Amino acid sequence: MAGEREFQDFVDEVTQRNDIVEVISEYAKLKRVGSRYAALCPLHNDKKSPSLSISPDKQLFHCFGCGAGGNVIHFIMAMEHLDFMDALKYLADRVHLPMPERGSPSDRKAREEKMDKKQRIYEINAEAARYFYRNLADKQGREAYQYLRERGITNATIKMFGLGYAPEGWTNLLNHLKEKGYAEHEVFEAGLAKARDNGTYYDAFYDGRVMFPIINVQGNIIGFGGRIMKENSNTGKYLNTPETLVFKKKENLFGLNLAKNSKAGRMLLMEGYMDVIALHQAGINNAVASLGTAFTPEQARLLKKYSPKAVLCYDADEAGRKAALRAGDILTEQGIKTKVLTVEGAKDPDEFIKAKGPEMFQVLIEGARPLTAYKIDAIKQNYDLNDTEQILEFAEAAAAVLAELSSGVEQELYTKQVAKETGVSPETLQAQVQILKRKQQQVKDRQQEREERRKFEERTGGRRDLKSMGIRNAERLLLSCMAEDGAVRKKVKSSGLLPEDFTEGLHRTLAEKLFQEDSNVEIQALIQEFPQEETGAVVAILLDDKNTEDKKKAAEQPLSTLLDAKRQQRAEALLEQGDLDALDQMLKDKRR
Ligand code: CTP
Ligand code: MN
Repeated sequence: MAGEREFQDFVDEVTQRNDIVEVISEYAKLKRVGSRYAALCPLHNDKKSPSLSISPDKQLFHCFGCGAGGNVIHFIMAMEHLDFMDALKYLADRVHLPMPERGSPSDRKAREEKMDKKQRIYEINAEAARYFYRNLADKQGREAYQYLRERGITNATIKMFGLGYAPEGWTNLLNHLKEKGYAEHEVFEAGLAKARDNGTYYDAFYDGRVMFPIINVQGNIIGFGGRIMKENSNTGKYLNTPETLVFKKKENLFGLNLAKNSKAGRMLLMEGYMDVIALHQAGINNAVASLGTAFTPEQARLLKKYSPKAVLCYDADEAGRKAALRAGDILTEQGIKTKVLTVEGAKDPDEFIKAKGPEMFQVLIEGARPLTAYKIDAIKQNYDLNDTEQILEFAEAAAAVLAELSSGVEQELYTKQVAKETGVSPETLQAQVQILKRKQQQVKDRQQEREERRKFEERTGGRRDLKSMGIRNAERLLLSCMAEDGAVRKKVKSSGLLPEDFTEGLHRTLAEKLFQEDSNVEIQALIQEFPQEETGAVVAILLDDKNTEDKKKAAEQPLSTLLDAKRQQRAEALLEQGDLDALDQMLKDKRR
């Protein structure tokens, strides 16, 4: 078991052996700019000018677009959605260093408590799932069991998915779990109970629902979906577990625990739980669905770990078509090759399979169209290609789709195809595509600029007047010089400026730390002292380029600005108190 000191040494070693430039280059194409590297930031949707900056000397990165920043560990935390320890392990593995027993006793305790809490929620969910499952076989679950059977679900499928029934009543599950030794507040933390204002609890699923356990890839039950059986209930057809310590709707997929083992080489993305279940029952084992929300980029990244290809199998209605297009763009953006399948003669895959059988669904899968072809087909429906004028309109609408393609090969291929269909020459169409591309880019650039400005203002506490902006900048400049040069620190300390004179919380904290440093400042250790949410802002200060080697000279101007501001503040205070003698003395001091 390593103590605090040994653990810190290990963190240092992992940080040193994982060169930040090498690590980030695994996620983004880097370009050398002077002594730094620049890249399109892989942590946000950065399509325009590179907003990520990396300092190989300091081994720090910062993105002025999304505000992220820190050392190599912080980068992996953000990029791979890991907590500190898991990011450390990831990087230790990368350079083949074995992890030591972790941390100080108090760290370990905190970590174990969190792990225990998660473990406890998994246990509660598992116990709840067993309870729901048993109910189906009971008298009280008769109607629910009948319902599932009528929908064509076999006993084997009920078992495979662990389907169950939450009967009507306010405390059925709570009572059961209490008997098993779980506290009400724990059931609440698992999302299976709701709290009343008076401190009492009631079952979250109280109105009689068929229950679908949601299981992550590690095989833990993280939450539930519950379907009401009466079609026109006023409580919502599906109810899902709310967000908990273990249930993150946007980061998980229903059915992935099964589909991850599929050898099909692609994932089938469905809209509904019932679609996934129907496909697995039909022997098609690569179906997954999002959890009651629109498909997210996080889910796309998760899918990509298991397969580079996806087929969208959304409902046949207008809502399904729209959702498929959005999901298609998200998948494409994450580099997943995407096809779209059209369900014909049924409202969704579940009904299709029931009506026409699994073999016919296989035929649909084989006939799925690449996303771009699907988009162009969809547009084509709106035009009569026997009418010259409409042919032209179609060509223009199709050009807009072509202009969005990031792959040049794909663009050329489909441009040729549309040209052939419309009789417009490929060159003319291509020219039109280029014009649209430029326009789209301009719109996107402007959007991104607005977004970045908004984020910047959010981080910096909104627009400021010029004077406070000047002080803010002076503080930042001075802090970065202090971090680099001991002589500057000494000078600032003897100038009478104090950490509490800094006008922002983060500046004060950083100043306090720097005021304490006598010898060299270990930037890596310094940055480690800040919580993850703040490392971006700290690195933004530390990496702000002063265009100068001479830090002492660079620090002169900001120091005098801040001392002036301090004096002026004091003068105003003295004037307010009417202490003219002290004011007089102060002015004399200044002249000296
Ligand atoms: N959904 C939801 N809340 C609703 C309706 C739907 O969370 N009120 C989510 C569920 O995850 C559902 C998915 O959206 O599985 C798709 O909805 P729908 O097609 O209506 O559900 P199906 O799974 O097809 O269910 P069913 O066939 O039983 O109607
Ligand atoms: Mn459906």
